[in-house]
Amino acid sequence: MTMAKNLRTGCSNKGKRTRLMGTGRGRTRVESSLSATLVKRKDLPFWMDMYKDAEMQHQLYAVPMDSAQALSDYLHREKKAFTVWHQDRRIGGFFLSAVAPFIATFGIAVHRDFRGRGYGRSLMALVESTALQEGFRTLRGDVYSDNAASIALLEKCGFRHFIWMEKNIM
Ligand SMILES: CC(C)(COP(=O)(O)OP(=O)(O)OC[C@H]1O[C@@H](n2cnc3c(N)ncnc32)[C@H](O)[C@@H]1OP(=O)(O)O)[C@@H](O)C(=O)NCCC(=O)NCCS
Repeated sequence: MTMAKNLRTGCSNKGKRTRLMGTGRGRTRVESSLSATLVKRKDLPFWMDMYKDAEMQHQLYAVPMDSAQALSDYLHREKKAFTVWHQDRRIGGFFLSAVAPFIATFGIAVHRDFRGRGYGRSLMALVESTALQEGFRTLRGDVYSDNAASIALLEKCGFRHFIWMEKNIM
């Protein structure tokens, strides 16, 4: 499934160029054009490798990594998880999970080998267009306050900070 960028959000690399590593002739500069497919069994080695990273372990909720099956079960439980591709190369992933009518929480990841090249912005555009197609109207990111990369990315994509207010009523 290939999805268009949601230009309305401002969260795209329109006007920018994204670098793609490794053609054997050094870095090749190409326009970023990402697509997403629902996570399948053959994607699991990539997801396992992506999660085996200190930044991922630090910034994401604890994910069962005992086996590919355990990870697969997690990625398919109460959420839709997508592998993200640049052309024929997997570069990251995301998931959407309904938390209330029309509201989805999401998680995103760019594989460590591809960070800092603009993929995150393009990936967020893909998250937004996918969420719209799924019928959601609001996106909520759970982000730790020390996740500078994610906070900067989401702010540039138009997200506002949000706090919980609680009261004990008994
Ligand atoms: C957060 C993450 C997805 C960003 O992906 P990325 O491809 O590196 O991001 P981009 O290259 O598109 O950068 C987008 C913006 O984020 C900011 N940014 C990226 N890395 C940053 C860093 N280490 N520190 C501060 N800001 C950073 C930049 O300001 C950049 O804006 P610009 O395009 O105007 O320069 C990636 O770091 C990641 O996968 N982290 C681990 C998983 C995670 O934390 N997920 C989020 C929690 S759900």
